Amino acid sequence: MTSLGTIFNRLITRPAPAVRGQHAASTPQQRPHNGQRAAAFQQFQRDFPAYATTTVLDELRATEYARLDQQGHVYLDYTGGSLYAESQLRDHMRRLSGEVFGNPHSKNLTSLAMTALVERTRESVLRYFNASPHEYMVIFTPNATGALKLIGEAYPFAAGDTYLLTADNHNSVNGIREFARTGGAQTAYIPVVAPELRTDPCAVLAALDQAQPGRNNLFAYPAQSNFSGVQHPLEWIDAAHARGWDVLLDAAAFAPTNQLDLGRWQPDFVSISFYKIFGYPTGLGCLLVRKHAAAKLRRPWYAGGTLTFSSVVADGHYLTPGPAGFEDGTVNYLSIPAVDDGLHLIASVGIATIHTRVLCLTGWLIDQLVALRHSNGLPLVQLYGPASTDRRGGTIQVNFVDPDAQLHDCYQLEQLANRARISLRAGCHCNPGAREAALGLTRAELEPCFRNNDQLSYEQFLQRIAGKTTGALRASLGLVSSFVDAYAYVAFARSFIDQPASAVGSDAS
Ligand SMILES: Cc1ncc(COP(=O)(O)O)c(C=O)c1O
Repeated sequence: MTSLGTIFNRLITRPAPAVRGQHAASTPQQRPHNGQRAAAFQQFQRDFPAYATTTVLDELRATEYARLDQQGHVYLDYTGGSLYAESQLRDHMRRLSGEVFGNPHSKNLTSLAMTALVERTRESVLRYFNASPHEYMVIFTPNATGALKLIGEAYPFAAGDTYLLTADNHNSVNGIREFARTGGAQTAYIPVVAPELRTDPCAVLAALDQAQPGRNNLFAYPAQSNFSGVQHPLEWIDAAHARGWDVLLDAAAFAPTNQLDLGRWQPDFVSISFYKIFGYPTGLGCLLVRKHAAAKLRRPWYAGGTLTFSSVVADGHYLTPGPAGFEDGTVNYLSIPAVDDGLHLIASVGIATIHTRVLCLTGWLIDQLVALRHSNGLPLVQLYGPASTDRRGGTIQVNFVDPDAQLHDCYQLEQLANRARISLRAGCHCNPGAREAALGLTRAELEPCFRNNDQLSYEQFLQRIAGKTTGALRASLGLVSSFVDAYAYVAFARSFIDQPASAVGSDAS
C-alpha cells in the first residue's frame, strides 16, 4: 500500500512558472516543509480518525491517477468534473478496438452487439442507484442539463399548475421556469438563508402546503448544492409527495460523493452527469424517471430513434414506449459502455469510502481556513455555507478578505492558484440564487438589470451592483482527493495573510 509520505514525495516535477506581480503564490516546489506537513497530517489523523479507513484511495491515486502527482497538480474542482482512472480508458479502448460495433437501432449483428452493451449499461445504472427496474427507467442524455431539459419540455405545465424550487439551484433547473411560464404555470421560489445557505424548514413545508389539488405541481431542488455544498434533506421527497407534488431531484453534485439510494428515496425525476462521478466519458448523463411519472410527460416532438412508426401521408406518429421514446436520434453508443466501467470503479472502492474521505478533508479544510487570521485579528476567509460537516458535502465556497475588510477578486485568486498548480473555480457556478443570498445581492439591485435592457454588459452589471463582488472561489473535493491537496490549498490561502487586496495579483492573468 502506498503511504501518504510517498505521495508527498511524488508531488513535484515540473518547473515552476515564473512568478510575476507583487504577490507570489507558492509553487509546489516552494510549498513548505515536509516536516510541518507531516505534523499537520498527524494531527489531522487524530482529529479525523475515519480517514484511516480510506487508504484504498491513496493506492488508487498512486496507481490510476499518477499523472496528478507526477505533474504536481492540486485538483480541487471535482464539482466541475471528476477525474478518470487510467484503467477506464484502457478498458474502454480495448473494448472498442477488439469488437465491431454498429449503430444500435437495427437487428444486424454489429448493431445487436452494441444494443446489448447499451442495455447492460442501463441495467448497471439502475443497480448502482438501487433502483428497481419495475419502478424506474434510465434515459441516456448528453448531461444533467439534457436530463433537466427533457423534463422542462415534457412536463405538462398549464395554467393553474406550479413549479416550485429552492433559490439554491443550478441554472439548468432554474431554466425550467421558462417552460413553466410558457405553459401558463406559476413559478415560486423557497429562499435560502445566509450564512449557512439552507432553507427554513417551516418555509419549505409552508410552500409544499400550497400544492394545487388536481393540478400538476412540480418541486425541484438539488440534493447537494454546487455552490455551498449544503445537502438539502431527502426527507422533502416524501413530504412533497404526501402533499401532491412531483419531485425533481437534481443529484448532479450529490451523486459523486454520496450514495443515492432510490430504493429508500423515490423522487420522480433524477438528473445525473456521469463525468461528475468518474470523469470519463463526458457527453453522457441520464434522467432516472419513475415509470408512473413518465406516463405524465408529453414530448413536444418526435425524432429519429424515438418512434415505433410514423407516416407522412397519414400525418401521424407513435413514440416508442420506455426510455427510447426520450432519446432523440442516435445515442452516444460508443461511449455508453464506458459508463459501466466508471460505475464499476466507484463500486470497487465504495462510495461510502469516498464519502468518508471527502468529509474528513472538508472538515479539516474548513477548520483551517476559517481559523486563518491577519495580524490585526480579522479573519482572512469569508465562508459561504455551513462551517461544520453536518449535512454538507465537500464543496467549500469562500472569498478572501484583506486586513481592511476589502474582498480580494476571486478571479485573480483563481489565476494565482494556477501558478501554484492548484485548480480552483471562481464565479457564481451557474447558481445565481445561492450567490445572491451569499453575497447580499438584492432584488432592488438586480431587477433593474432585466428591465428595458436588450443586453446588459458585464461592466454595466457591475455598476448596478455598486461595487459588490459577483462571485466567490470554490474548492471541491472528490474521488481521489488527499490530505496533500487540502494542505496545499491552506498553504496558498495562508500566503494572503496581511496582504492588501489592492496589492495582490494586479497582473494575475
Ligand atoms: C447541481 C448541478 N446541477 C446541474 C448541473 C449541470 O450539469 P451539466 O453541465 O453536466 O449538464 C451541474 C453542473 O455543475 C450541477 O452542479
